[in-house]
Amino acid sequence: MSSAIKKYWPQYKWSNVFAMINNMRRQPTRNPEPFCDRLVVLTGATSGIGYYTARKYAAMGAHLIMVNRNREKSELVRREIAEEFGTPAEYIIADLALLEDIQRVGHCILSREKPVDVLIHNAGLHLQSRQETGEGLEVNFAIHYLCPLLITRMLMPKYQRDRTGRIILVSSEAYRFAVWGLDLEDLQWKKRRYSGIKAYGAGKLAQILSMHTLARELAPYNVTINAMHPGMVQTESGKDNGRLYQWYKRNIIDKYSASPEVSAEALYYLGASPKLTHTTDVFFHLTTEEELTPPARDLQAAEALGKRTRELLHEEGVAW
Ligand SMILES: NC(=O)c1ccc[n+]([C@@H]2O[C@H](COP(=O)([O-])OP(=O)(O)OC[C@H]3O[C@@H](n4cnc5c(N)ncnc54)[C@H](OP(=O)(O)O)[C@@H]3O)[C@@H](O)[C@H]2O)c1
Repeated sequence: MSSAIKKYWPQYKWSNVFAMINNMRRQPTRNPEPFCDRLVVLTGATSGIGYYTARKYAAMGAHLIMVNRNREKSELVRREIAEEFGTPAEYIIADLALLEDIQRVGHCILSREKPVDVLIHNAGLHLQSRQETGEGLEVNFAIHYLCPLLITRMLMPKYQRDRTGRIILVSSEAYRFAVWGLDLEDLQWKKRRYSGIKAYGAGKLAQILSMHTLARELAPYNVTINAMHPGMVQTESGKDNGRLYQWYKRNIIDKYSASPEVSAEALYYLGASPKLTHTTDVFFHLTTEEELTPPARDLQAAEALGKRTRELLHEEGVAW
């Protein structure tokens, strides 16, 4: 930790914080152009940001593949989209915190003929107490970091063949809570006291660091990858936490939160605007480019995280 403080402290700038505060007041840039018959894959489309994003892309003519864990909710969204917009929407049922399901989703998308024009890694959650999946992985780490990383890597042969595509990571300004970077010896919060916001921030920081590596690997195939903060918006996030958190969310957080339609507009712009064809490895606050904090732009840390992840996945029997 002390070496991380020595490394990052001199690089921190107050102007970076003020820029973020300024960006919080901005509305997203909108893209009026339709997106007819383009294929969009979106995770976590059953509520909040994902739900409004699915509706936005469908309204603009896109063909959707939603990746959700709940069949009943997925069927409702699919039917609603078909009736309201008349555009095709399919779904794959998967628990995106489970390596087995993540790999099944990867194979399923890989087998599609059509190029994936936009892939939005949106599914996520905020947990106040540490939880492990049935496979023994810490949930934040699995869903925010391993899931987007593995699905994207599994699609490399498809991107190599199709030579087109945009990937968007729904990130969060909360990555800033990982102030001194990641603890590579304890990525899954087994040795330290768990903190909901710090674990969430660490998951999002790991996701941003992986973006740097993936952007380099995807560049030869004309595929871009960017991360975005979707605003502070009123969703179902944190619904699995206790009563005190629910009270705080209802009475404090939600009162200051915008509608997730704002996030959907931003995600449509980032995925469909012709202005961003060549933009890659950038963090957006909605649609405004933002400089990352020192730990989030540390390419050495990104490399070390990649190495540690390969070891971990090897232990889990997952091909890299
Ligand atoms: N809300 C905000 O202010 C805010 C701010 C910054 C970043 N974000 C990010 O925005 C993204 C969307 O969150 P939200 O606020 O829209 O929350 P939300 O309303 O709770 O939606 C989360 C979505 O992810 C799905 N999901 C959660 N765990 C899953 C799993 N294990 N497997 C498959 N799907 C799973 C949920 O499915 P179910 O419907 O089945 O639960 C739901 O569709 C997250 O990545 C979050 O970190 C949100």
